[in-house]
Amino acid sequence: MARLNTSRRRIPRGTVRFSGRQLTGALGGLLWRSSAERTVARFEEAFATWLGVRHAVAVGSGKVALAAILEACGAKRGQGVVLAAYNVPEVVGVIRGLGLIPRFVDIDPQTFNLDPAAVEAALTPETGFLLATHLYGNPAPLGALKTLARRHGLVLVEDCAQALGARCGRRRVGAQGSPALFSFGPMKALNTLKGGMLTTGDSGVARRARAVVGRNPAAGRVAVLRTLLSCAAIWVATRPWVFSNGVFPAIRALDGLSPAMVDTLVKMRPAAFDHGVLDIDAMMAPMGPAQAGAGLAVLADLERANERRLSNALRLRDRLRHVPGVSLQQPVADAEPLWTNVVVRVADRLALRRRLLARGVDSTAGYLMDCSRLPNSPGQPEYPHSAELERSNLYLPVGPELGSAEMDRIAAAVEESMASGGDKRDTGAP
Ligand SMILES: Cc1ncc(COP(=O)(O)O)c(C=O)c1O
Repeated sequence: MARLNTSRRRIPRGTVRFSGRQLTGALGGLLWRSSAERTVARFEEAFATWLGVRHAVAVGSGKVALAAILEACGAKRGQGVVLAAYNVPEVVGVIRGLGLIPRFVDIDPQTFNLDPAAVEAALTPETGFLLATHLYGNPAPLGALKTLARRHGLVLVEDCAQALGARCGRRRVGAQGSPALFSFGPMKALNTLKGGMLTTGDSGVARRARAVVGRNPAAGRVAVLRTLLSCAAIWVATRPWVFSNGVFPAIRALDGLSPAMVDTLVKMRPAAFDHGVLDIDAMMAPMGPAQAGAGLAVLADLERANERRLSNALRLRDRLRHVPGVSLQQPVADAEPLWTNVVVRVADRLALRRRLLARGVDSTAGYLMDCSRLPNSPGQPEYPHSAELERSNLYLPVGPELGSAEMDRIAAAVEESMASGGDKRDTGAP
């Protein structure tokens, strides 16, 4: 295939991390059954050492890790789980699936994370858990949340699905003493062809979690091969030549035909998410050896990839900081975010997205939402900051496969788009 001139190259919103070593690791796990259990244990040990935590339990997904933590920490039906309203709908599906009650609180409009004052106001005698999501790689205010949890006898759970490698108070998130969950889905920094991990410093929690995830077998060969094929398809579709000459023109054509359809695609939200009360018994499963084999291969390269993503994100954020009409997520004082996503807030997201497309840059609004508006959450109060973030967010590409030249192109495209569009109205956010 002919090499593309950098300025003609179109930039995809993201891609899967998919390497030969990962493929070999996965195939090794699939083929050599005799060493299967050992592969999962090796991945758990390597991950626990890398993170700096005593116990790591490899499971079938981030959702499984969350359900296992809640069960292993003694969740009882009817107990409340306080969490940010701006969240992943499936997380709410796990909470409901266990017969627990999600208690939403609004996000802090600066950090996009839990606001400790709002958490305190939302506590009731039934509250048992506090779920702190480190959104887009930005650590939640763990110091204040730990104090609150201790004072009210709650279990603090960290959702690190988007924050693998971020730090807070010098320690990595997920290694702070609270049980934590990680997701290793295809688009995540550590792609194990679907999978997840729960971490804890408590051997009792680790033991009980292992017992509850062991209800079903790990994903079988066919399921792993299917995920592998879908990863391969995304990988091919986002190669520079294929994306620039095939996929990107198709995205633009679709945008011209039906902006509403593109908005639906951009939101990437399968309808099933909206109705989710997940079947926890059916979902529980440990991680299999093929996934662990892939995980070991990616873990070896994770620091390099994380550094590259962070350097991209910092370069882009630095340029965007001064663009009128664009606002950025902010860290709390003792946090070292990883910025797995650089999400800007603008008054007219679709207009910005269209202007970026005209300049060769794809973007997305992701799939998080103000979960208080899920169909099975009637009678909820308003969560204005969460609703506003759902309306105004746009994720810009910062993956480790990109470099500084692409970051400068994206920054220039945002600057030009905002200057050309009369779109400098404030989002209403600080
Ligand atoms: C913040 C957050 N929590 C939980 C999950 C669920 O992880 P999984 O898809 O591996 O079940 C995700 C998935 O993207 C997530 O982003």
